[in-house]
This record gives sequence, C-alpha cells and structure tokens, in this order.
Amino acid sequence: MKNLIATLLLMVIVLCSCSTTDDEQYTPIDDNQLAELNLPEDYFNYANIELPDYYTESQFPDQFQFQAVTAYDNTPSNNVVTDAGATLGRVLFYDKKLSANGSTSCASCHQAANGFSDVRVLSEGFDGEFTRRHSMGLANARFYADGQFFWDERAQTLEEQVLMPFQDEVEMGLTLTELVQIVNDQEYYPPLMSEAFGDATINTDRISSALAQFVRSMVSTTSRYDQARSEVSSPLAPFPSFTTEENQGKQLFFIPRELTNGEMANCAACHQTEAFVGPLPNINFTLTSFATTNGLDATSTTDLGVNEATGNPNDIGKFKVPSLKNIGITPPYMHDGRFPTLEEVVSHYSSGIKNHSSLITPLVNSNGEVGQFNFTQAEQNALVAFLNTLTDIQMISDEKYSNPFN
Ligand code: HEC
Ligand code: HEC
Repeated sequence: MKNLIATLLLMVIVLCSCSTTDDEQYTPIDDNQLAELNLPEDYFNYANIELPDYYTESQFPDQFQFQAVTAYDNTPSNNVVTDAGATLGRVLFYDKKLSANGSTSCASCHQAANGFSDVRVLSEGFDGEFTRRHSMGLANARFYADGQFFWDERAQTLEEQVLMPFQDEVEMGLTLTELVQIVNDQEYYPPLMSEAFGDATINTDRISSALAQFVRSMVSTTSRYDQARSEVSSPLAPFPSFTTEENQGKQLFFIPRELTNGEMANCAACHQTEAFVGPLPNINFTLTSFATTNGLDATSTTDLGVNEATGNPNDIGKFKVPSLKNIGITPPYMHDGRFPTLEEVVSHYSSGIKNHSSLITPLVNSNGEVGQFNFTQAEQNALVAFLNTLTDIQMISDEKYSNPFN
C-alpha cells in the first residue's frame, strides 16, 4: 500500500514537472520573426471543416454499396489535422527556398487556380527539367481510401509522399539534411513549429506531418454540385438548380448502363461517392492497392504504372483513380496528360477503351470482349457539363490555401 501511494505521488510529481517544462518551452508567435509572412491573427479553420450530411452518410440506394465518404478517410490517428499544423504546412507548401536553387515550391506545380494541379502536360522542376508524369490535383486527397499516393501509388502514405518532391532530382533537388538545414535557417519556422508541435525542434517528421495536414485540409464541399445538392435529399434526384443537361449528365455518371459487351457499368463504380474518389473495396477485398486501368492503351510500354512500385505483373498499366473534384479546371487529363479536354476523356470512355491485360469486369466480359459506354454526342456533352459542376471555386480561392508570403 505504501509503495502504491509512493508510486502515485511520484507520478503526480512527474506529471506536474512535465507540464511546467512544456510551458517553459512554448514560444509564442513573435511578429518580427514572421514579418515575411502574411498570416491571420486567428488561425483559419483547417481542423474542423464542416462536412455535409452526404459526406458523413451515404445517401445512395443500397445497390451502390457505397459507404460514407468519411469511411474513405486516410488520416492516421497520429497526424490529425490541427489549425497550427496546417498553417505551418501552408508556409512550407509555398516556400520556394526549399529547393536547390530557391526557385520552386510545391505550389509551382500545384497551383490553386488550377485545382492544385498544373495546366502543363509535364511540370517544370527547379532546374528546367520536366517531370515524368502529369501533376495531380489535391482536392479530397484525404478521401483516397487505400491511402497511397502518386499515379503509381509508390508512396505508402501521404506523410511519406510529401517528403519525396524535395528529394526528387527534377522537382526540388534537395537531400533531407539540406531541407532541414534550410528550414532551420529561416527565422519564421521555429515559432510556427512551436505553435504546431509544442517546441521549436525542426526535423523531417514534423515537416512531413505539417505538409500532410495542409494537403488533407483541402476538402471540397462547396462546388456547384454541392450547392445544388443541398436542395435535395438524394444524389439521384434531379437538382433544381442544375440545367437539364447537367442533370442528364449526372444520371449518366451515376446510373449503370449497358456497355457494348453486354456488361453493366457506371463512372461512379470507380469514381465513388459524392466526394468522387477512387474505390473503397468490400470487406473481402485482398488487394492492397485500389488502382486500376480504364483502358487507355492496349499494352503498357513506357509507363508500367503501379507495377513499377510493386513489381507485381498484375499491376502493369494500373494507375491511381484520382478525385474528380475540380476536374473542369485541371486539364490536361490522365497520368500522362494525353487528353487536353474533358470532351476527349468522355470520348475515350464512349468508344476508345482498349483491351489491356489489366482491364477488369465490367470493362471486359468473361469472353474477353472489351465494352464501350457508347454515348451519343448529346450524352457526351451532358457528361462534360456535369463534370464541370464539380469545380469548387470557393475552395480554390479560399485565402487559407493561398500563398502566405508577402
Ligand atoms: C516540379 C513539379 C512538382 C513539385 C515541385 C511538386 N509536385 Fe507534387 N506532383 C507533381 C507530379 C508530376 C505528380 C505526379 C507524379 C507521379 O505520380 O509520378 C505529383 C503528385 C503529388 C501528390 C499525389 C497526389 C495523389 O492523389 O496521389 C501530392 C500529394 C503532391 N504531389 C504534393 C506535393 C507537395 C506537398 C510538394 C512540395 C513538397 C509537391 N507536390 C511538389 C509535381 C510536383
Ligand atoms: C474501371 C474504373 C473506371 C471507370 C468505370 C471510369 N473511370 Fe475514369 N478513371 C479511372 C482511372 C484508373 C483513371 C486514371 C487513369 C490514368 O491516368 O492512367 C481515370 C481517370 C479519369 C479522368 C481524368 C482524371 C485526371 O485527373 O486526369 C476523368 C475525367 C474520368 N476518369 C472520368 C470518368 C467518367 C466520366 C467515367 C464514366 C464514363 C469514368 N471515368 C469511368 C478509372 C475509371
């Protein structure tokens, strides 16, 4: 008993002394140190983004087998978004000093006005060389269920992904040691680190956590789709503020139709839920990757996709299914940016799907016949009109995602 009391007493003392040390280490934001930055008095809200009810529950009929968007969330329990963490992430995201010659930041290739993607087919790195694939939009990256990043899913987590551009010899050209050194050399990082993590220590884990928080905070819930959606209780009901054409395109996107090979298919099978994100597998799914192929090529030659990361022959030609939020402003399309317009994307699904060995049902049937969506021209126009309603102007122009440097 005496021992127990002594232990408890000791624990109390230890706990008290811990919290005192924390208080002493805490560095309040010093305005001079932050002079280069234009940060708000109070934090922007990144941590508690209000999700519409059709994100927190699926309002599709049961046969869609969709779960709530929140079930797709890839946020790890040890890196939940905080306002201070995402604020630090925002500064890191826009900081050109974090590249070999001070010319390139994440935002150089992920521009807000372009849905955090790049209008160029390939993006230009710090030294004028070009990336191998097309840049990716970042809206709703948080809801990619398998939590793997890049077109070929070579990053196992977003925390791992955000450190890779710094070290890429085309993109930013640094080593992690150099990165930490440059971050250390800027007077604005210690106070931002303290606010985010409790003390001013700078290391790669913290840089990674903060950047991942900023990217995960880019949730899209204010597109024209979302505004119109709030007037009805089902995604399949006609939206009163949509045009007839947009409503027709919405039905074509969601409702399965018969392909030329006799199988039933819909766009929403791969671009799921009202966050328009890559698939969530059912419980018995044994694959670790949810990437797939949409039949862009009959054979893969220069880019083997997920196979390059896994070495698995079954993964040849598979690519990540990106979110379609902001798709109208993120041309060109696909991993190699081969389609300049949405018209060409829809035309591909209508009549251009190739019988790649990785193609799965329903795009190929049990006799090996590839299926085309076979849309009329009017249907193709309607699908494009619908896809354009997914553009979230409010989100991309929100100051909280903008460049904080003066
Ligand atoms: C020079 C251009 C360039 C720079 C700089 C750059 N990116 Fe990218 N980013 C790309 C390209 C290209 C891809 C797709 C590459 C691939 O899949 O192989 C990509 C992919 C991504 C993805 C994957 C999205 C997904 O859904 O899988 C994320 C996240 C991302 N970048 C964040 C960042 C962050 C954070 C930084 C800064 C640390 C950054 N990028 C810097 C060009 C760039
Ligand atoms: C079998 C799954 C599947 C189906 C069905 C499907 N897609 Fe896709 N979609 C993908 C994959 C995978 C990609 C990325 C392919 C790549 O880049 O190699 C993609 C890419 C896209 C892109 C370009 C995304 C970007 O950021 O460049 C658009 C737009 C698109 N799909 C729209 C549609 C529409 C519209 C339909 C229905 C007519 C549809 N998809 C049906 C799997 C699918």
